[in-house]
Amino acid sequence: MKVMLVNGSPHKAGCTNRALEEVARTLEENGVEAEIFWIGPKPVGGCVACGGCGTKGACVFDDAVNEFRAKAAEADGFIFGAPVHYAHAAGSLLAFMDRLFYSNGRAGQPNVFRFKPAAAVTSARRGGTTAALDDIQKFFTISQMPIVSSRYWNNVHGNTAEQVEQDAEGLWTMRQLGRNMAWMLKCLEAGRAAGIELPEQEAGSQTNFIR
Ligand SMILES: Cc1cc2nc3c(=O)[nH]c(=O)nc-3n(C[C@H](O)[C@H](O)[C@H](O)COP(=O)(O)O)c2cc1C
Repeated sequence: MKVMLVNGSPHKAGCTNRALEEVARTLEENGVEAEIFWIGPKPVGGCVACGGCGTKGACVFDDAVNEFRAKAAEADGFIFGAPVHYAHAAGSLLAFMDRLFYSNGRAGQPNVFRFKPAAAVTSARRGGTTAALDDIQKFFTISQMPIVSSRYWNNVHGNTAEQVEQDAEGLWTMRQLGRNMAWMLKCLEAGRAAGIELPEQEAGSQTNFIR
């Protein structure tokens, strides 16, 4: 079993990464492989709504988004982490997730997220963490991904990784998140082994608000 953790900060070894390291270590202690994926220091562009993923089966821009999708296909669970920028999740992570989720499962390619558990993690100096969690979690709730929670909202406080080190409650929350994710993955595996099938997918239709 493997969990991919996304660091959506421009800082490779900053606060978000420090929080994710705590989750990753706890996952490993509980028998689950963990890998942190950094989206990089450059601005990440959002979806240009070209529809090209509908024929390509991947985003038309070959960058970290497509690189991550290949890894996501092999993963059983996900943690998406972002610093708070202006009281919500950093724009680069949201742009990354817009293209990643919009291009997912198209043109005959497998859906790499459906029924895989996920959690959001945020980092801030002071304010905006719960709004940022809401931002990130909305990708999961439209994708049939069970959300894993912890004992408090999944955030750490600090401007530097050293300050996060002093946030004992934040790191405690991250460790509990790691344990809860490992438990959820083991429950899902036990369910599969017992023959519990995935829910039927009813063929639906889109009804836009045209009236
Ligand atoms: C553009 C920008 C906007 C920010 N806005 C906020 C904010 O609204 N609230 C807050 O508490 N911290 C804010 N911060 C501080 C970061 O959220 C905080 O330093 C965070 O822990 C950095 O995480 P990182 O090291 O993973 O990038 C902002 C930082 C930047 C660069």
